Amino acid sequence: MKVLFVCLGNICRSPTAHGVFEHMVIQRGLQSRIEVDSCGTGDWHIGHAPDPRASAEALSRGYDLSHLRARQVIKEDFEHFDYILAMDMQNLADLQAMRPQSYAGCLDLFMAFAENTDITQVPDPYYGGDQGFAQVLDLIETASIGLLRDMGFEHT
Ligand code: 4NP
Repeated sequence: MKVLFVCLGNICRSPTAHGVFEHMVIQRGLQSRIEVDSCGTGDWHIGHAPDPRASAEALSRGYDLSHLRARQVIKEDFEHFDYILAMDMQNLADLQAMRPQSYAGCLDLFMAFAENTDITQVPDPYYGGDQGFAQVLDLIETASIGLLRDMGFEHT
């Protein structure tokens, strides 16, 4: 199972999802079954480490993002990943425009997997305050558990 998380810059939301989901995968001993990656639709931050505000919020909850570097989505991602999960509607629209007709995987909003919430998107925290980054972590933790359940790896 191969999962790609996608946002705009690949320095706030999708690296957070990458780090959180990867942590949960390792915690459950599933690293040989599930591959995790992230990227951005935009090209401004290629090669950059995650935003320090995202890294700090993640680290405060036990997720280390320091090994991650931003990259831009490429068309070959549709040949590799079973799940391509967008943080917001704009990211999803940009991915749908790139999607080859032959893509048979799941291209959707990440929050479609979150249970017990009406929130459908992970809001862009880049121009806001620290509270935005805390909300990003809350939403991503919830959606990550739902995704594991959808994959058949979470039974509680
Ligand atoms: P992300 O946040 O898409 O969650 O990584 C953003 C990062 C950078 C910019 C916008 C959003 N930017 O405009 O540079």
